[in-house]
Amino acid sequence: MSTSRRQFIAASAVAAAAAPGLFAAGDDTLKVGLIGCGDRGTGAATQALLADKNVKFVAMADAFADRIETSLKNLNSKAALKGKIDVKPDAQFVGFEAYKEVIARCDVVLLCSTPHFRPIHLKAAVDAGKHVFCEKPVAVDAPGVRSVLASCAEAKKKSLSVVSGLCLRFDAGFREAVKRVRDGAIGNPVALFANDYRGGRWAKPRQPDWSDMTYQMRNWYNFTWLSGDFNVEQHIHFLDVCAWVMGDKYPAKAIGMGGRSVLTGTEYGNIYDHFSVVYEYANGARLVSNTRQHPKTKGDLSARVLGERGQALLSERTNGITIKSEKLDWVFEGDSGDMYQTEHNELFASIRAGKPINNGEYMAHSTLLAIMGRTAAYTGQEITWKMALESKEDLSPPKYEWDAKLAQPTIAVAGVTRYS
Ligand SMILES: NC(=O)c1ccc[n+]([C@@H]2O[C@H](COP(=O)([O-])OP(=O)(O)OC[C@H]3O[C@@H](n4cnc5c(N)ncnc54)[C@H](O)[C@@H]3O)[C@@H](O)[C@H]2O)c1
Repeated sequence: MSTSRRQFIAASAVAAAAAPGLFAAGDDTLKVGLIGCGDRGTGAATQALLADKNVKFVAMADAFADRIETSLKNLNSKAALKGKIDVKPDAQFVGFEAYKEVIARCDVVLLCSTPHFRPIHLKAAVDAGKHVFCEKPVAVDAPGVRSVLASCAEAKKKSLSVVSGLCLRFDAGFREAVKRVRDGAIGNPVALFANDYRGGRWAKPRQPDWSDMTYQMRNWYNFTWLSGDFNVEQHIHFLDVCAWVMGDKYPAKAIGMGGRSVLTGTEYGNIYDHFSVVYEYANGARLVSNTRQHPKTKGDLSARVLGERGQALLSERTNGITIKSEKLDWVFEGDSGDMYQTEHNELFASIRAGKPINNGEYMAHSTLLAIMGRTAAYTGQEITWKMALESKEDLSPPKYEWDAKLAQPTIAVAGVTRYS
């Protein structure tokens, strides 16, 4: 037995105990499987395969066969992945139950489907004792968030890694800036601004041969039950940065508004195209959250933190990462690295070292933070953290069946739509 294999087995003993079959192949190859073979899934598979010397890509699942085909073609075209891909036709699974087959065949599962299914996929992966890369957001409703919290607690008991796709937490510049703010560079934060201003969004118009379910699944971003609405799907990134700055503490309540003013066609489903929410922390600090998706408008992806003695700007590429106070004028000038690659490097290193990473709590709570803002805007009511966490609103359809009748979901109206 080689030294590296001996070290690997010793270091991973706990994980192995929890994940029977991990070493069944008689070597230290980590078998990787992908659930959700779209753009991000293809990217995540690439990063996973580059993160470790001894990995094999062995199984893929998607709701649609063509997504697997395109993804695999793309992966096979990358010279750097040569020799690491072995997904035979009988390891390609299609449909709502496909995830089970992938989980059964691998050691590390990449969860990259549309957000609605994440709690189901995560639970199945953890129940089966598999390590997980889990894209954001992790749920679209409170029952989903509670399920994710339970799965992540179980993963902790089983010494499994659960690494979150909230990628800004893996960016070296963001990490350094947040550390400085947490260490007191600008005093206590009193106001935070989470901005996600973008142009339009994609939509897939219905095709004549598509059932209701096929249409909504193909056009998933535009349906709240599948994406969580873009306040959850997209804006979670900078809401999460603010939560991180606050030491993973979450606000007590929120009030907000939103609507559809530009993206109003039926192809835009039932989600909004703008939200504005003010969250209040127990200590009085405010988090002002603004997001919109209006074509031909100015973009801004950033978190700004006003502290008692200065301010910090954490911006994705556009305006940089800076901290200014009476004593400090700091600009991040280092190398931010490739945050998507860093996620996987850290995931695989944690598995090899037998030192699991579990991002479960913040990825679930930041998802809830975004759902709380959506609920405040949809209902027009003040929503407390307790209300958000205990909500019984379950957005699942009655059945996951391709010929299921699914009406075009209604669009929420503040003052009419009720909290439940
Ligand atoms: N961290 C980031 O920066 C980042 C960037 C892009 C996307 N994402 C996240 O990745 C996820 C996927 O986004 P995308 O852009 O790749 O979308 P996509 O539409 O390209 O891919 C999603 C895939 O999931 C499949 N799918 C849906 N339901 C499924 C199910 N039940 N079982 C198996 N497959 C299923 C779809 O058919 C589709 O192929 C989203 O949650 C998104 O928020 C994260």
